[in-house]
Amino acid sequence: MHSGKLITFEGLDGCGKSTQLEKANDWLSEKGFTVQTTREPGGTVIGQQIRNILLNPEHEELQPESELLLYLADRIQHLQESILPEIAAGKIVLCDRFHDSTVAYQGYGRGLDLISIESIVEHCIKPYAPDLTILLNISPETVAARLNRRQEHAEKDRLDSESLSFFTRVAQGFEELSAAEPERFVCLNGEQEIEVIHQEIIDAFQQRLRIT
Ligand code: TMP
Repeated sequence: MHSGKLITFEGLDGCGKSTQLEKANDWLSEKGFTVQTTREPGGTVIGQQIRNILLNPEHEELQPESELLLYLADRIQHLQESILPEIAAGKIVLCDRFHDSTVAYQGYGRGLDLISIESIVEHCIKPYAPDLTILLNISPETVAARLNRRQEHAEKDRLDSESLSFFTRVAQGFEELSAAEPERFVCLNGEQEIEVIHQEIIDAFQQRLRIT
């Protein structure tokens, strides 16, 4: 049996990570790996309910600290109920967003001091750091353009209404996170063609994780 792994996909809203995650799933499955795709928030039944609270555009009264704790609650549930057992069973878990999103969005974007959650993170999340994190970089201006397109299709969620300066701060967060852990992160230009990015992700799997 193969050894299980956690691979996360990160980036600003509209960066194309969900498309790339699905293509990576197809590639790995064709190679014979057992793959589990999932996402945060919303990777469990409980998490799906948390996701509904978090992303409902009507929830304007949601406090930044409440939002932060809901993302953590979703993650701890997701890890214990699903991700860790799947890794233990030898699966490759591809997760659309993980803890880097909390640091980038709630820490850098909202400006929350994450010191208040440090002991929870230290005990419940840090021990299960991803084996690899694919970060798709797009400019905050591209985010705005892509979210406008979503709005035309009435698919906007609560966070899609954030400002350009919010996404600029989030991008800065991802940049600093990836610079601090270059061995975990693979940073790719998310403004390239879908197939070019897919090939770069396969290259990263082969070089960093020896997946062939
Ligand atoms: P998605 O659109 O990638 O499914 O993500 C939902 C939104 O939740 C997205 O705007 C990013 C945001 N988010 C956070 O703010 N903090 C987090 O910890 C996570 C996982 C997502």
